[in-house]
Formats: sequence, C-alpha cells, structure tokens
Amino acid sequence: MARDRTRFVCQECGAAHPKWQGRCDACGAWNTLSEEAPAPRPAVRAGGGRRVAFVGLAGESAPPPRIPTGIAELDRVLGGGLVPASAVLVGGDPGIGKSTILLQAAARIAEALSPGGRRVLYVSGEEAVEQVRLRALRLGLAGAPLGLAAATALRDIAASLEEERDAALVVIDSIQTLWLDALDSAPGTVAQVRACAAELIRLAKSRGFAVVLVGHVTKEGTLAGPRVLEHMVDATLYFEGDRGHQFRILRAVKNRFGATDEIGVFEMTEQGLVEVANPSALFLAERRGNVSGAAVFAGIEGTRPVLVEVQALLAPSAGGAPRRSVVGWDSGRLSMLLAVLEARCGLSLGANDVYLNIAGGLRIAEPAADLAVAAALVSAATDRPTEADTVYFGEVGLSGEVRQVAQAEARLREAQKLGFAAAVLPPRLARAGRAVPPPEGIRLSEIGHIADLVAPFAEQAQRQRQRRTG
Ligand code: TYD
Ligand code: MG
Repeated sequence: MARDRTRFVCQECGAAHPKWQGRCDACGAWNTLSEEAPAPRPAVRAGGGRRVAFVGLAGESAPPPRIPTGIAELDRVLGGGLVPASAVLVGGDPGIGKSTILLQAAARIAEALSPGGRRVLYVSGEEAVEQVRLRALRLGLAGAPLGLAAATALRDIAASLEEERDAALVVIDSIQTLWLDALDSAPGTVAQVRACAAELIRLAKSRGFAVVLVGHVTKEGTLAGPRVLEHMVDATLYFEGDRGHQFRILRAVKNRFGATDEIGVFEMTEQGLVEVANPSALFLAERRGNVSGAAVFAGIEGTRPVLVEVQALLAPSAGGAPRRSVVGWDSGRLSMLLAVLEARCGLSLGANDVYLNIAGGLRIAEPAADLAVAAALVSAATDRPTEADTVYFGEVGLSGEVRQVAQAEARLREAQKLGFAAAVLPPRLARAGRAVPPPEGIRLSEIGHIADLVAPFAEQAQRQRQRRTG
C-alpha cells in the first residue's frame, strides 16, 4: 500500500509536487513551494448515501434575489447586488482599498437591512476593533448598525456564525489571517486558506448569508495567492490600480450570477472610495491636446464604453537591445504592432526605446486598442499630434488589415457624448443587408489597412517639410 507522504504545495497556484523544487511546474512561480502534511482522505463507502434526484433542463427558476450594496458601481460588478448564500472573493494588492470599500458597503447594507432585523457582520483579522472604528468614524459610518469583531481563530468564528440566525452578510477581512487549529501549517498557507474558506462557504450555504472573503495578492508568495480560492467561490472581484493613482478599478473575473469583465470605477478620497459615474470623463480629464504620441481609444469594459488615452514615447536607444516598457497593455501585442508597422508601412521603430502607457491606471485587454496604439506610435514617430477630436478603435492583423471589433455603435455613441467629432475605425459591415447609421455629428473614417492610418501623418510631415524648404 502506498504510504501517504508529505507533499510540496505551491502557495501560488496550489499544485502539489512530490519533491521540493525551486520553481513550480504548474504556474512557473519561483520559491513558492512549501511542505505540507498529507490531508486525510475520507473513504467513500458503498451504501449509506442518499439518492440524488435528476431533473430536466426545463423548469421554473426565478432569478436569484439580491441584496443591493447601496454602491452602484459595486452592484454593477456583482451583477445587481450580493446574492444570499453566495461567496464572493475580493482580491487585490495590500493598501488598494479592499477594507475601505467593504466597510462602506457593509455599513450601507446594515443600515438598509436593520429595520427587518437582518444583521451584517464584519470580522477583521488584520486590524483591531479600535482601528476599524477609527476608520468608520473618518468615513462617517460610525452610526451604522454593524456587528464588528476582531478574530482569527476559525473555530471561534464558525461557532459564532452557527449561533447567528439573522446574518445576511458576513465580511471576512482577510482570509489569509484565519487559521484552523486542526491543521499544522501556518495561517496564510494554501492548506489553511483552503480549509478556512471551505468551512466559511459551507456555513454561508447552510445559514443562508452571503460571505465576502478578502484576499491579498502578493508577488513574494509568502501569503497564499487567492487564486486557489477562485474555484470555490461564486464570484471573484479584483481591485486594480496602483496606489500612486487615485483611481481604483474593481473588475469581475468570475461571476456565477452575472456578467464577467464588468468594471466599477472608484476614486480614493478623504471620504473613502467614491463612485465615478462617468469614467471616460475622468480618464480623459488630464488630457492635453496637441501633443504628439497620444491617441484616444474608444474601448468597451464589460457592458460599458470607456474612453482612455493611449500615450507613446519613442527615444533613441542607448545601444544594446531597445527597451519596450508597457503600462496597462500587453507587451507582446506592442511588439507585434511594431513589427506590423515596420513590415507593412515601412515605419522603422526598431532602433528606438518604446514606452507605452494607458493613462489613468486602467489595464486594457481588448485587441480593439491596436488601432489607437498604432496611432499613438505613428504620431510619436512623425512628431505630429493626432486630431484632438478623434477616437480610434480596431484590431490590427499581421498583414496590416484592420479588423472588425464588437459594439462599434456603443463606442461611437460614447465618443459623441463626450464631444468627439470623428472616429477612425474598421470598415463597418452591413448588418442584415443594411449599414447601421452612425450617431449624429460624428465623422467616420473607415480604414481597411493600417497604411491608411499612417498616410495622413506622413503627408502632414511631408507638407511641413515642403513649407520649410519652399
Ligand atoms: P485599505 O482599505 O486599508 O486597503 P486594503 O484593505 O486593500 O489593504 O486602504 C488603504 C489605503 O487607502 C491607505 O493607504 C489609505 C487610503 N485611504 C484613503 O485615502 N482614504 C480613506 O478614507 C481611507 C479609509 C483610506
Ligand atoms: Mg485591509
């Protein structure tokens, strides 16, 4: 019989290895393996189980009831509010604002639910009761009927929640600080995080309260990445943005009760996190017209169009391999675009250092940004500003063709709403035999190849040179 041996578990992704090694084969992370005692495996005996009923696909099913959080941007990301008896994971770097937003949401829910006798509980494993109270005071939430506790022993928390009949929402801040005394491993290890989360989720399902788990993401791998929890919860939200910026973006990466890729935009202020109802206006607020190397991208985040500025800077390389520095976009995608510009338009940027930035701290994953990035690059290379009233969107293929992207109409409407007068976009296909008319007051230049994007910049530069010499 095979002896149960200790395993080495990656604290980043949860993969188990028979031997210690420096790098996890599964996720490629370094120095993330830690030794774990084997978990006892309960034997499934024959007999003793209850019969499971199998039903047909058709049948009555009402949409799940929701608890609105009172914060519209958070509700949007959750798909309309918290679902009772569900588990939500909120991940993000330390200091990004997880505790702040959850305290704000918990206080508002507590206020809304208290007339009905339903309770909201906030368990802080990181901060003492006084610290949380101070924060609540600063945020003007001290009067909210919230149940607050500082605890880290899962046994105590579970026992208290078993007793609790009226809890509607329980916030655990954070899951990495909890520990179960039945396990040898330290708090924050994959084994602890997984066991504590499983117990809390079981309680949530059986008692009918929604549970929100806070999880830190650290690069160092000392704390278990919340990635191991993602498959256990119903929804995973990530807080993005860097601490140098006041903008925070909450993004759903998994949601069993709503759409994913929906974002909520917040601003960190003295009064905590404040919703930003019109993100495009915010992302474009610091834009300065008439500067070369900038182009406005009309993007879609979830169901919402968002305009952002793409900025590119070229500098002669100091020798060696040229630098490619990208913030907010995919660096592989940038390399591809540079290669396409060189091969299809003869625009050689290979000897330059290239810096690319998405203004405002937003991270863009859409290929539709290709055309805006290309416009910013060409503008930087020719030292000609893009037209200040123009937005760009479209995917660029390897042969330089500009490809269709989804939701062109929504992008155009948003651009028009924010005062833009023109758009550079892929050729619009006639849908069901007829082209959809563009919104009033916006000029479209439909381009089929990236060379059509480069030509006006080159002509402009040419004209200027002629004026100078002539
Ligand atoms: P916090 O919610 O504690 O982050 P997390 O729980 O994700 O670690 O937020 C910490 C940062 O937010 C901290 O650097 C201070 C800032 N902050 C404000 O700017 N305004 C506020 O009203 C609050 C409460 C925090
Ligand atoms: Mg915190």
